[in-house]
This record gives sequence, C-alpha cells and structure tokens, in this order.
Amino acid sequence: MSRLTKLHAYHWRTINIMADLPTGFWGGWIVVLTLVGLITLAWLVFSIYFSADAKKEPEVEPVWDSNLREGSNAPPLWWFWMILAAMVFSIIYLMLYPGLGTYKGLLNWSQGSRLVESYEGYNESFAQVRADIAATSLAEIQNDLGLMETAERIFARECSTCHGPDARGQASIFPNLMDVDWQWGSSAQDIELTIRNGRNANMLAWESILGVNVGPVADYVMQLGNDGIETHAGKAAYDQNCSACHGVDGSGNILLGAPNLADDIWLYGGELEEIQASIASGRNGVMPAFGKRLDDAQVKLLVAMLAR
Ligand code: HEC
Ligand code: HEC
Repeated sequence: MSRLTKLHAYHWRTINIMADLPTGFWGGWIVVLTLVGLITLAWLVFSIYFSADAKKEPEVEPVWDSNLREGSNAPPLWWFWMILAAMVFSIIYLMLYPGLGTYKGLLNWSQGSRLVESYEGYNESFAQVRADIAATSLAEIQNDLGLMETAERIFARECSTCHGPDARGQASIFPNLMDVDWQWGSSAQDIELTIRNGRNANMLAWESILGVNVGPVADYVMQLGNDGIETHAGKAAYDQNCSACHGVDGSGNILLGAPNLADDIWLYGGELEEIQASIASGRNGVMPAFGKRLDDAQVKLLVAMLAR
C-alpha cells in the first residue's frame, strides 16, 4: 500500500468512526446526560415549591432602606405550571423524535428521510411533465415558447460554459452550434447521440508524416472547394493522407467527426498558420457525455433547441 492509499484508508476510517460516534458509548453517554439534566431540573423546581423549607412559615425578614427585603418566596405559581408544561413537552418530544443518543424516536423522523421524501415528492410531481415532453414531437416543442425557454435555461446551465451563452461557440475550441456546419451530423438523432454519449474527435499529428508538405497541404486545404486546384502542390499528399476521413472534395465525414474542410467554417481557425497548426499537431476535441447527467426530457428539449 502506498503512503497515499494508507492515508486515504485512514482518512475514511476516521470519517466512519465519526459518523458512528453517537452509537454505543457516546450514545449512552448523551442519554445519561439528557436524563440527569431533566431529572435535576424537575427536582429543583419541585423543591422550590414543595420542599419542607418552602412550606415553612415565612420568617420575619429584615427590611433595609424602608422597602428593600431579601424575599425568599417561591416565584408565582403560573411559573411553576409553565416549567412543568415545558418539561412534559420535552419528554413527549424525546419520545417521538430523535434526541436521546441514537434512539430514533417513535415517529422514526430524520432529516435524511425528510429529504428523501421531499425529493420523491418533487420527482413525482414532475414525472408527468417529463412524460408529456417525451411524448411531444420536436416540431411541437420548437413552437412552444415556454418549452424553448426551458431548453435555453438548461443550455445556459449545462452547456454555455463551453459553447458560449448564445451557443455560438468560443475560444476556437468549442464549436458554434447555431451554424449550418455539423461535424457529427445535423439530424435530431445525431445531435441526441452527441449529447448523450459525447464525442471524441481524433486527428493525429501529421508533422512527422508530411514533413515539408505541411505548408502546401495546408494551402491546398484552404483552396478546397475552389476551381483549378487539380495541379496544386499539396493535392497528392492530401489525397493520400487526408481524403480517407475528410473526403477527396474535403466535405468531411460525420461518422468520424471529420469536419468539412471545403466550407468557410473553421473550429480551430481558418488562417493559414492555424490550419497548419491543426495539421502539424493534430486536434483532439472532446465533447463530454451528458446521458447520465440529464434525463430524457432535458435531452429532448436540448435537441429541439439545436436541431433545425
Ligand atoms: C482519421 C481521420 C482523419 C484523417 C486521416 C485526417 N483528419 Fe483532419 N480531422 C479529423 C477529425 C476527427 C478532426 C476534428 C478534430 C477536432 O474536432 O478536434 C479533424 C480536423 C482537421 C482540421 C481542423 C478543422 C477546423 O475546423 O478547424 C484540419 C485543418 C484537418 N483536420 C486537416 C487534415 C489534413 C490536412 C489531413 C491529412 C494530412 C487530415 N486532416 C487527416 C480526422 C482526420
Ligand atoms: C466541457 C466543455 C463542453 C460542454 C460542457 C459541452 N460541450 Fe458540446 N462540445 C464540446 C467540444 C470540445 C465539442 C467539439 C468536439 C469535437 O472537436 O468534435 C463539442 C461538440 C458538441 C456538438 C457537436 C457539434 C457538431 O458540429 O457536430 C454538440 C451538438 C454539442 N457539443 C452540444 C452540447 C450540449 C447540448 C451541451 C450541454 C448539454 C454541451 N455540448 C456541453 C465541449 C463541450
């Protein structure tokens, strides 16, 4: 066991011991303290009102400064009834709710179970809404302003840190989701797959393979889609190394996430140096999977927001 794992094991044991503290000895100790406290208080109150001392005829007390006297009289009787009521309340409370060591109380109440209950209640009250959304067509959702606002709120919370508040991408790393260019496909099914399972784009670094050809190939990539590039110096190397994924015409392949290189939309930048950098060092964009984090209704709302 490495020192770190030992430390971890120790750490967890300590936490477990702490979580278990109120059982056994400490639990009993708390019960004793609580009960002794209550009994002492009861004894004190009763002794004030009903002890032999209290029943004694009041002695003649000394009086100072014409009206200042010591006054050993018991407080008024309503005070006694108040204390008694409070004590009866405490006892009933301790019988019903957890309060005596590890005793759980007759009602079996706990903060944890209350949380679970309110969570279940919350889930139940929204189950119907979720089922409704799941049964609604994308077009209907897209025409429902309220639902689209909900979708935008989910997007703002879950996605905007990377894709930007308006979903127009940012930092030349996170793609614009509002344009016509879809690396991984534009159909509702493709977008749903992207959101649920995430995507790992994989283009390795070409520098060692292309060598001095990186420049010409990058230039060729910039010219893709133009006329008269049949004789371009980068064409041979492109066709040989790149067309398998990006296509001979540069139109890309959504199954591999290989972007269209023939349009004017660039994730990592469309300047010659930026394209050279993409080719020389490779790119490995990762879209995280949200299938576990979001429920079906939330995924559907996001798909409705993004698909057109
Ligand atoms: C195995 C498939 C594959 C091959 C082969 C391949 N690429 Fe790529 N390429 C990709 C993928 C996938 C991406 C997207 C990377 C990302 O999103 O992080 C990409 C991204 C790019 C980009 C960035 C596009 C943008 O929008 O910024 C350029 C430029 C590029 N490739 C050029 C080339 C060139 C030139 C070659 C040949 C030397 C090549 N690729 C070979 C799969 C490939
Ligand atoms: C941690 C950052 C991050 C978060 C958070 C994130 N994404 Fe992404 N997303 C990416 C990256 C990076 C890519 C590009 C992957 C690549 O290079 O292929 C991407 C790609 C995508 C694509 C594919 C775009 C295309 O052209 O095919 C979609 C759709 C998408 N994200 C939707 C979402 C949605 C919806 C959310 C919120 C639920 C989200 N993303 C949250 C980083 C993120």
